[in-house]
Amino acid sequence: MSGGGEEFQVVTRKKWMARKCLSRRNRHKSESDYLNDCPDVNVDIFQARMERLCGEMSQSDYFIATMETLQQQLEALKRPLERIVCLGLGPFTRTYQALHQAAFIISTQQFHKIKETLYYDPVFRETEKELIKRLNGTIIKEDRAGRHVAQVPTLYYLPHCPYALMHNLLLCNWSNETLPNVFLISNSFEMLTLNRTLARSNPNDHIARIINYCTEASLEDDYEQQNVFNDLSLHCFPSEKLPGTDNTIFWTRCAPLKVNEDELRTDQNIEDEFSALSIRS
Ligand SMILES: C[S@@+](CC[C@H](N)C(=O)[O-])C[C@H]1O[C@@H](n2cnc3c(N)ncnc32)[C@H](O)[C@@H]1O
Repeated sequence: MSGGGEEFQVVTRKKWMARKCLSRRNRHKSESDYLNDCPDVNVDIFQARMERLCGEMSQSDYFIATMETLQQQLEALKRPLERIVCLGLGPFTRTYQALHQAAFIISTQQFHKIKETLYYDPVFRETEKELIKRLNGTIIKEDRAGRHVAQVPTLYYLPHCPYALMHNLLLCNWSNETLPNVFLISNSFEMLTLNRTLARSNPNDHIARIINYCTEASLEDDYEQQNVFNDLSLHCFPSEKLPGTDNTIFWTRCAPLKVNEDELRTDQNIEDEFSALSIRS
């Protein structure tokens, strides 16, 4: 499998930092500068590259196993997938993680013959929006901070996204009718709440509150590129597992959370990102 973008991005983050003579202390501050500094890609060439990568993705063990896991859950619902909403994909012409995630979601759209996939990420630049359009996607115009209602069975793809986005997504689907339509691939809820014992016993956010009532299938990451699909799970909310409508405490909605990009970050994974962020040449 190809590295995904080698002819498009010759300046790696390391080279960029060296060129800018940045000290270790200033590296974090410079991340958005680095992404802004990345040159625009040629849309025609990148589209062809993306289509090739999707071909490879759809043959990968990771993709095939993930589609099987999703299919099992859809069969339990007895309805086909009708929609895909992808939030927080990231700058996919500029980082390899987002690039491979983009190939994954486009391949999923093709596999399930979904007419369109909706995308929102505030970092998208015009060339990325144009590529999404060409690849049968639609850009959501406004920032709904994760509030997207699942009127039909919908796959939500939120890879490595801020906690608040998942919380707000659950919040706006917080009913017996819509939660079963939500199929969410995001960071594992089990892992996200592991160190929040207090939150679990006194849940004032929707992730902590749903944890005992959802089905979480961990998506084993055997993908060739590392740090792309790690720690992700498929979360489903089958109606038979949800509390009855008379459980008013459970069904009372929490307040929305403000999206804070840094929530999921630890010092260690910031360091890891520094060394792994750029699409390698
Ligand atoms: C940690 S990055 C993950 C990027 C990529 N998916 C990855 O795994 O490397 C979180 C992403 O969430 C995006 N984001 C922040 N606020 C958002 C919002 N309100 N709606 C959708 N995406 C948002 C950021 O721009 C960023 O690209």
